[in-house]
Amino acid sequence: MNKGLLVTLEGPEGAGKSTNREYLARSLRAAGRDVVLTRGPGGTPLAEQIRHLLLAPAAEPMASDTELLLMFAARAQHLAQVIRPALARGAIVLCDRFTDATYAYQGGGRGLPEERIACLEHFVQGSLRPDWVLLFDLPVDTGLARAAARGRLDRFEQEGLAFFEAVRQTYLQRAARAPERYRILDAARPLPEVQAALDALLPQLLEPAAHD
Ligand SMILES: Nc1ncnc2c1ncn2[C@@H]1O[C@H](COP(=O)(O)OP(=O)(O)OP(=O)(O)O)[C@@H](O)[C@H]1O
Ligand SMILES: [Mg+2]
Repeated sequence: MNKGLLVTLEGPEGAGKSTNREYLARSLRAAGRDVVLTRGPGGTPLAEQIRHLLLAPAAEPMASDTELLLMFAARAQHLAQVIRPALARGAIVLCDRFTDATYAYQGGGRGLPEERIACLEHFVQGSLRPDWVLLFDLPVDTGLARAAARGRLDRFEQEGLAFFEAVRQTYLQRAARAPERYRILDAARPLPEVQAALDALLPQLLEPAAHD
């Protein structure tokens, strides 16, 4: 039987994760695959409430450790209710942001130690890691301009350029460390070109992962 596949879409605000998640889902469904579209933080009613706590601008500053623990609290719920059951029945889970985003934002952006994140990753996920990470990479100012065009900024989008530069570099470093699991897409290119690159990746994504 098919084991499911966990494919995560990562990258900064405005990189095109959500747009391309829909595109990939259409291609995979056309190929007859069972596809579950979801996102982190969130993906269940309870986890979406935690997402709201994380994203809504608020008067009280949120401690970085609170932010980190809420991210993993949401992820634990998401794994239990959605991701693990979908993988168990052999589905392809396309998840808009997962634990790489925690390393990039709470690690790179907020400066929390990588070991602390790794410890929670192991606690919440056990050995579960994405089969593939699609990293939509683009210059910080391009992404922020796309996000700003959408309107009101969330708590993360209100951060400064240095924060987003650290996010970007952390993503790229993680991809460089495990190139067998990551695919980097140049998200600054016009959308049809990004989607052509995704089409080219599709056969690889569907192969049994060589890196388990
Ligand atoms: N390659 C591209 N070129 C130009 N515009 C793009 C491209 N990809 C996406 N966009 C546009 O940029 C905006 C942001 O895209 P999208 O919402 O998919 O990004 P995202 O990575 O999901 O962002 P966020 O992290 O904020 O959710 C949308 O208006 C989308 O149409
Ligand atoms: Mg999005």
